[in-house]
Amino acid sequence: MVVKSMLTIALLLIVGQSVLLQANKAVNNTVVEEYKKNIYRLPKYVMPIHYDIKLIPHIVEGKFTFDGEESINIKVCEATNTIALHTVELTIDETLTTLTRKENDVNPVPDYVQKQHEYNGDTQILTIRFEERLDPGTYQLYFKFTGVISTVYPGFFQSFYTDNEGHKVWLAATHFQPVSARKAFPCWDEPAIKATFKFSIKHYPNYTALSNMPSIRSEIDSADGKLWTFFETTPIMSTNLLGFVIADYEYISNSNGTMKIWGPKHLLPYAAYHLDIAEKATRELERFTNSTVPMSKMDHVSIPHYSGATENWGMIAYEQNLLFQENSRSIIDTMVITHELAHQWFGNLVSPAWWDYVWLSKGISTYLQFYITDKFIKEWRLMDLLVVEYEQPKLFEESVYSQPINLRITNHLYVSAAFSNNIYTKSAVLLRMVSHFLTEDVFRNGLIKYLQAHQYSSATPDDLWKALQDALDESDVLHDDFKVKEVMDTWLKQTAYPVVTIVRNYDTGVINVTQEKVQIHLLDTETNSAWWIPLNYITKSNPNSSSTLATHWLKPQDESLTIEGVDINDWIIVNKQLTGYYRVNYDIINWRRIIASLNSDDYNKIPILNRAQIIDDVFHMIVTEQLDFIIFLEVINYLSREIDPVPWYPAFRIIHRLNYYLRMPHVAAIFKPYFFNLTHKLFEHIGFDEHSDDDPATIKIKADFMKTVCLYNIYPDMLDKCRAKATAKLFAYLESPKNIKLSDKQFICFGLMQANESIWNHVLQKANETRKYLIFLGCSGNLDIVERHINYLEKYYIYDHLFTNMLQNMSNIDATIDLFIKEFDKIVATGTVKFILRLIIMHCGEDQINKIKAFAEQHGLDINMYLVERTKVLSKINNNLAKIRNALENNQFSVAMHITLNNATSLNRDEL
Ligand SMILES: *[C@@H]1O[C@H](CO)[C@@H](O)[C@H](O)[C@H]1NC(C)=O
Ligand SMILES: *[C@@H]1O[C@H](CO)[C@@H](O)[C@H](O)[C@H]1NC(C)=O
Ligand SMILES: *[C@@H]1O[C@H](CO)[C@@H](O)[C@H](O)[C@H]1NC(C)=O
Ligand SMILES: *[C@@H]1O[C@H](CO)[C@@H](O)[C@H](O)[C@H]1NC(C)=O
Ligand SMILES: *[C@@H]1O[C@H](CO)[C@@H](O)[C@H](O)[C@H]1NC(C)=O
Ligand SMILES: *[C@@H]1O[C@H](CO)[C@@H](O)[C@H](O)[C@H]1NC(C)=O
Repeated sequence: MVVKSMLTIALLLIVGQSVLLQANKAVNNTVVEEYKKNIYRLPKYVMPIHYDIKLIPHIVEGKFTFDGEESINIKVCEATNTIALHTVELTIDETLTTLTRKENDVNPVPDYVQKQHEYNGDTQILTIRFEERLDPGTYQLYFKFTGVISTVYPGFFQSFYTDNEGHKVWLAATHFQPVSARKAFPCWDEPAIKATFKFSIKHYPNYTALSNMPSIRSEIDSADGKLWTFFETTPIMSTNLLGFVIADYEYISNSNGTMKIWGPKHLLPYAAYHLDIAEKATRELERFTNSTVPMSKMDHVSIPHYSGATENWGMIAYEQNLLFQENSRSIIDTMVITHELAHQWFGNLVSPAWWDYVWLSKGISTYLQFYITDKFIKEWRLMDLLVVEYEQPKLFEESVYSQPINLRITNHLYVSAAFSNNIYTKSAVLLRMVSHFLTEDVFRNGLIKYLQAHQYSSATPDDLWKALQDALDESDVLHDDFKVKEVMDTWLKQTAYPVVTIVRNYDTGVINVTQEKVQIHLLDTETNSAWWIPLNYITKSNPNSSSTLATHWLKPQDESLTIEGVDINDWIIVNKQLTGYYRVNYDIINWRRIIASLNSDDYNKIPILNRAQIIDDVFHMIVTEQLDFIIFLEVINYLSREIDPVPWYPAFRIIHRLNYYLRMPHVAAIFKPYFFNLTHKLFEHIGFDEHSDDDPATIKIKADFMKTVCLYNIYPDMLDKCRAKATAKLFAYLESPKNIKLSDKQFICFGLMQANESIWNHVLQKANETRKYLIFLGCSGNLDIVERHINYLEKYYIYDHLFTNMLQNMSNIDATIDLFIKEFDKIVATGTVKFILRLIIMHCGEDQINKIKAFAEQHGLDINMYLVERTKVLSKINNNLAKIRNALENNQFSVAMHITLNNATSLNRDEL
């Protein structure tokens, strides 16, 4: 087992770099200065008050267009002779644009006719220039325009579903967030420029039009027999939260019709679960926000060929799968409903003042999707899953690449950066931290104040911190030593996170606490980072973790902090329940005491989330070479007692990360019996077969366990079961590739190893249809089949995939090398020789190395670098294997480890 996994880090570097390339576009500090005179921002001297929009979409195959007209009541705040607003991809009939003065108390004023339209395609801003000066006052601006109902979203787009008879049924829908309302009608398309909207839509009478508001009436147009649907005027809102759908949908609804799920008729029977969740989530959100849902109705509308879900106010759009999965009770399906409903308050009622602060709405809704769903599905343990599925992977990711939460988004071209996974996840995890150092009650009261202060308007992070501070000041929670804003600025404006180090003086009892930034592998320019860190701890004699308030604050300006009063014979574990977003390292004596407790019958006195924390943190410490490998082994040894699935999340992630090494034959020889013993109790507890009443954590860990057991052939008598499961997954993937996670790739590959000719023909045929399947080529133990892939590869040039799969499967290294030699000329042409050579060198044994060396020499390839790397990695592995043997000889481990090592040594004494 190797600790500093070079390949892993190399891969992470690659992943990190592509993230970085995207991010750099968005976060460019040199443009901060230009920000104020940003030509992409609309001038604020003319503001919209109310839009009256009439649209006539033509939903006809081959002619997806729409006609539109709108009257906008605007307010000129300062005298000007221009009006600027957004529009894109629309054809405006300029001769029909009018501006009318609209003062009740003034005599009618003639229209402003002398005007000129100037359009800037780069800024997407239309400027209308008038010859006369427009004095402050209210006006009405009128446009007539046409547009295309696009084949792609965002914007106003076409889609279709296939009905039970196999007919395509067309429909039209919108996705405006973040900057596409301007594709449907000219508008002030910035989140903080809010107005009211009245929509009217004309359509075939066999269709239904839906929008944010309920329809007030409908009326047949006698001229063409089509139907006008008129909607109530919206509250004051942002343009990007508008939406409409025109489809021949039906619905199911709650008892009074305030909550509906819309979709194709034949799918509606599958939506009862989702309706129930939507109702429960709404009730909980109303309780939480101490207010009723801000819209009089809530439609949940399925859109075919859509991805994810969008929180349009009063009319939430979902991809079809999310609402209509047969038998679906998945966490994702469920929480997405809570998430979008939370947005009805956070994001819609109060919007971020600019795209820089999208985290305000995304982060709060992501946190609440866990917190609120947990209120009505307690048995899912969502608050634990938030930690092991979101926080810990984020801590890992941010030790590779990190960017701050507060962004600088200057214009629409870079706005997608605000919707990155980083924003959603990290801000949610940080809000959980806030809710713990303030208490749940103060946090909730603060959010209520935030909603009240900024409803029908917009807000910045400082507004949120102020609301939370006010709630804190009114509470009886002690808070003299910190200010919410000051604390949170250190977490939002800086990248990554701190590692806290605890060094105890066992003579004086004084505990010294220091912080430093996590070691980042990639281009880290911020070096002087320091945080306001909330600290609390449990000790051996007081392991009560129920209060997660900070008992101490480690401040950025202080070099260190001391904690006193802990019994020198106790262990201490800092960061109860992993509520603070940081890692903790200890002096070796404290680590050994924690290890002793973990490996005793008292292990469950340490809270579950802290057990997960310790596994994850200690792994980080050995990867960064801050702790000895043996400490890691001693910590995970405790897992032989662990039957709760939650601490197994980080454990399986580590196994997954080390996969490459664990599958090397001489490492696998140790890993297999080790894993067998480590998981014995877990296996007894959770079993191998899926049960319909398993909670999500059990399902996840059972699947991870099963995958590991199968891939490493831990229980030879399970091989048939493993094959059956892998084949089932493979078939599910062939059936519906979208529903399979990439993390299942390896397991599907395992399924393919046993696949027969006819399954392979099927896969190859699919690969011909869509490149998606190419990731599985090379997942075969049958060299005839591998050879047949070559035809496909010539077309797609992905030898790197083929060899990665072949080597990962350890199927037949000799054959892999032969294939490499045979295909060499073609591989040269694809430019992947170095990548594949390195891969082979890192995987092969001593005897094969000579073959590679000879070949390289023959072809003048310099492989020295890879040989050096190989030697380094192998020496590290051997080093660690020697440590394991040593520990065994010194009787350092518990029974589980002993059995393992005895087996391993007997299997593999030569290699050790
Ligand atoms: C940042 O923006 C400025 C001005 O547009 C440009 O000159 C510079 O190259 C950009 N820097 C990066 C890192 O993208
Ligand atoms: C709706 O009516 C129009 C015009 O009669 C027709 O072309 C279209 O196929 C109908 N659509 C559906 C889904 O029934
Ligand atoms: C509609 O019914 C739900 C319960 O299904 C209830 O909570 C809600 O208050 C009702 N709304 C109105 C407007 O009656
Ligand atoms: C909830 O609203 C009620 C009525 O407006 C008010 O009396 C109560 O104090 C509010 N509770 C909170 C926690 O804000
Ligand atoms: C705490 O540790 C820091 C950093 O190692 C050191 O500078 C400081 O003197 C220590 N404080 C105490 C009280 O030991
Ligand atoms: C843990 O501490 C809380 C107060 O923080 C207290 O209410 C609770 O009773 C304690 N639990 C135990 C088991 O001592």
